[in-house]
Amino acid sequence: MTWTTWSEKYATGHAGMDHGHRRLMELINQLAEAMEDNKPMSFCSELLERFIAHTRTHFLAEEQLMDRIRYPKTKEHKALHEMLVKDVLAFKESYDSGENAQFITLLVILDSWLERDISVADKELAEFVAVPH
Ligand SMILES: [Fe+2]
Ligand SMILES: [Fe+2]
Repeated sequence: MTWTTWSEKYATGHAGMDHGHRRLMELINQLAEAMEDNKPMSFCSELLERFIAHTRTHFLAEEQLMDRIRYPKTKEHKALHEMLVKDVLAFKESYDSGENAQFITLLVILDSWLERDISVADKELAEFVAVPH
C-alpha cells in the first residue's frame, strides 16, 4: 500500500528539506506496507525506530537552520516537531509493550504531520530562507 505520494504540494523549494521529506515519506510507505503485510513485530518495531531516527535528524537540521537565521517562528516550529516526536514515541512504546496499538493510528498521526509541518510550517521556513535578510 502506498500511503502517501510525493507531490508538488509538499515541495518547499529548499533542496535539503525536500530531500529529507521524500526520504521520510518513503519510510512512511514502508511502514504502511509492513502493516498491511502483517510483518512480525520485531520488523515493524525496527522500521519505526529507523523512522524516528530519520525524523530526529531531519528536525535537528531544520532547527539548526532556524537558529542560525534567527527565524521569527522558531518556537512554534520547534513545538510542532516536539509534538510529532512525542506522538510517535508514545505509539512505539505502546506497540513494543504489546498493547493493541494499531498502525493505522500512527499513519493518521503522520498524515496530519505531512499537512501541518511540511505543507505549512516548512514552506514558510523555506520562503523565509529564500529572501535575503
Ligand atoms: Fe521538515
Ligand atoms: Fe519542520
